[in-house]
Amino acid sequence: MSITVNPINPKRPSFAGVVSGIDLRQADAGMRADIELALDTYAVLVFHNQPFSDEEQLTFSSPFGFLESSRGSVHPKHTHRFDNRLSDISNLRADGKIRPTNDRRWMSTLANRLWHSDSSFKPTPAKYSMLSARILPSWGGETEFSDLRAAYDALPPRIKAKIEDLVAMHSIKYSRAKLGFADFSQNEIALNKPVPQTIVRTHRGSKRKTLYLASHAGEVIGMSVPEGRMLLHDLIEHATQPEFIYSHTWAVGDFVIWDNRCVMHRGRDFDMSEVRDMRRTTVGDIAPTLEQKKVQEETA
Ligand code: OGA
Ligand code: MN
Repeated sequence: MSITVNPINPKRPSFAGVVSGIDLRQADAGMRADIELALDTYAVLVFHNQPFSDEEQLTFSSPFGFLESSRGSVHPKHTHRFDNRLSDISNLRADGKIRPTNDRRWMSTLANRLWHSDSSFKPTPAKYSMLSARILPSWGGETEFSDLRAAYDALPPRIKAKIEDLVAMHSIKYSRAKLGFADFSQNEIALNKPVPQTIVRTHRGSKRKTLYLASHAGEVIGMSVPEGRMLLHDLIEHATQPEFIYSHTWAVGDFVIWDNRCVMHRGRDFDMSEVRDMRRTTVGDIAPTLEQKKVQEETA
């Protein structure tokens, strides 16, 4: 192991670790392999003092797999501040000014404050998200993470049996609808048809079972819409009890990697008259969740 990892909360040794003493700009294949191994255990890894430029963040992230391009590009009026493989997690416009609170993109981005797993609305969702803190507001703006493997373990056997083979439909239209946002372009509607995702997955690296949930989930196949939504609501409520949460308070230069296959996250409120500028690189998974489950069952 070329890296040193310690659990942030020693009482929770298998969720949220802090990695010390390394400069990720110097990462080589061995260090990346060790980071992947540590992620299999901790699911969330915090690295302090990583002053990445955009180019350096891309160079660090891209060997982990296919880098997703940012969703914002599908709206015709949206202009990017930088390379499309970096998601712009900020309240800034392309001209560098703070977005007004009625700004279309800002209203849509507010859905980041609902519990979610990145890109669960894509046929093949995200594996890792890698978020770099560049400019922070004076208060708030924490990011919270929920341990979906521990949450699965804590379910009563009756619920485990009920959800074992269930499939939910995910779309950004469901998460946005929770906030009353429906101002989608034709292109966004065409590109964001609901996609199926299994509710229970087996996490490849740890072989542990995990819930797979997000506010993007809006229906459960084989159930009425209200029944499916109630089940999803109950599961998210269960998974976001305090004992399953790590809340990250950011410092400039912090870099956090999380495994979307077994973690939900959400951003928290901050003062919108202040700048919060974060950049995310996102590594796609290898296949849709249903395909992964089929392969796992065939090879079990
Ligand atoms: C994200 C996200 C929340 C935050 O980057 O995917 O949801 O705290 N961020 O900015
Ligand atoms: Mn997110």
